[in-house]
Amino acid sequence: MKKLSRNDLCWCGSGEKYKRCHLEFDERLSFLKKQGFPVPVRSLIYSEKDIAAIQKVCHLTKRLLDELNDIIKPGITTNAIDTWVYDETIKAGALPAPLNYKGFPKSICTSINEVVCHGIPSDRVLVEGDIINVDITCILDGYYGDSCRMYKVGKVSDTASRLIEVTKQCLDASIAILKPFDPLNVVGDEITRIAHKNGFSVVDMFGGHGIGKNFHDEPFVYHCTRKDKQMICAPGMVFTIEPMINEGKKGCKILSDNWTAITVDKKLSAQWEHTIVMTDSGAVPLT
Ligand code: MF3
Ligand code: CO
Ligand code: CO
Repeated sequence: MKKLSRNDLCWCGSGEKYKRCHLEFDERLSFLKKQGFPVPVRSLIYSEKDIAAIQKVCHLTKRLLDELNDIIKPGITTNAIDTWVYDETIKAGALPAPLNYKGFPKSICTSINEVVCHGIPSDRVLVEGDIINVDITCILDGYYGDSCRMYKVGKVSDTASRLIEVTKQCLDASIAILKPFDPLNVVGDEITRIAHKNGFSVVDMFGGHGIGKNFHDEPFVYHCTRKDKQMICAPGMVFTIEPMINEGKKGCKILSDNWTAITVDKKLSAQWEHTIVMTDSGAVPLT
């Protein structure tokens, strides 16, 4: 590839001259690369047009999660939630990304109580006191929007409520603290600080991920503290943060269905997820 001159058109497709567009950006990344930080390849830097399309699919994912507030009650099965999300997704002209993804059999993940993530919808009836995570990823016009939330089924225990609130705080605080050109270590450090301060543990078997034109792309986003340098988070990157926080031990095991992850000690687990875009002024949740 020929090195761009200052007056050439920028590689990002903006139609601007390189010197007025991504020249400083490239210089900053090459400086950070020399310091030993992994830096994003250009395909991970989304254009304004791409980001508008990602905003659109994220808006759909968010709407479906909002509407579940009135649907999730004692007596409903996780299969009924799955069917409702499938029908609404198709009505919106989109597709549910999990369906047949690496053999996943349903349109959403439903993770109840000690289930950490990737629970498979079934005939299980929700009962008063359950906590449930619903994770929805839609595909619209070739772009992915991924988000999940916790729902309380009727009245739940104080511990369950506190776990849900602290996990939400972990997600929100890690978004607020992350600035352009920070290494992603910032995310795991902030989540771990808040979880541990509250006596909870951080699941390290799963992480967030780059997203946009692909479901699971680089970078891998750790929710735990990492000693090694994580990727620089540059403006134009789109990725998820999706901390899973456990009431007890951080350890998880996968059930024989090859999907469902549960806590080793069968204590509660909670998760919240946003799809996020890094901008020149900070990280902005799109879901
Ligand atoms: N939505 C999940 C995530 O946050 C991925 C689910 S993959 C599936 O990355 F196959 F389990 F659906
Ligand atoms: Co995700
Ligand atoms: Co998800």
